[in-house]
Amino acid sequence: MITKNSTITVDDVKSNPRVRYYIELADKSLEALGYTEHGFRHVGWVSYQAGRILRELGYDDRLAQLAEIAGYLHDIGNAINRVNHEVSGALLAYDILKDMGMPYEEIGKIIGAIGTHHEASGYPVSEVSAALILADKADVHRTRVRNTDNISMDIHDRVNYAAISRDIIVDPDSRQISYDIQIDTNIAPVLEFFEIFLDRTIMAKKAASVLGCEFHLIINNAKLL
Ligand SMILES: [Fe+2]
Ligand SMILES: [Fe+2]
Repeated sequence: MITKNSTITVDDVKSNPRVRYYIELADKSLEALGYTEHGFRHVGWVSYQAGRILRELGYDDRLAQLAEIAGYLHDIGNAINRVNHEVSGALLAYDILKDMGMPYEEIGKIIGAIGTHHEASGYPVSEVSAALILADKADVHRTRVRNTDNISMDIHDRVNYAAISRDIIVDPDSRQISYDIQIDTNIAPVLEFFEIFLDRTIMAKKAASVLGCEFHLIINNAKLL
């Protein structure tokens, strides 16, 4: 049961200076560690997609708004350390949202989603968690590569750079969620995609089932799953 007067939206969260600072810091730390982009572009895309998934499946709009907020905040824990960033991020989000006056029932849904989004330790534990996982794991795209000089050396950079487009297709009637990804196989073979995305794909499949949906993976117009 969610308190009726909760009105904090993702726009409020986006304009919070503390949020902006921690997202910048998280992305800078990951840049220093050699990771792909995890800044405003990544969290903005994940936020939008997480909300859209729940809305298109007919969930309550407030639940979709909570998924948007979880999406925007999900990677701030990287400001502390990449290791366990899902847990540290949930705690940072707790502090920020509490100070913004969000009811604890809503904060609980958001921190539970953030704390379970990472494939190393995560599991889709709720609808918000499932939507966040589905959005986050789909963001394979060339705009995430910081330095194209690395693409021959680094498989993550290579696969991301090869990903020309990616979309999440939600079909509420047949209850199907599909990742539709276009990969330039001159840059990376599809096998390399699976090498680094297999655990993410398995997590996405579990997340879809929490939302009562089948999961499909389409790469270069071929249905692989
Ligand atoms: Fe993450
Ligand atoms: Fe992420």
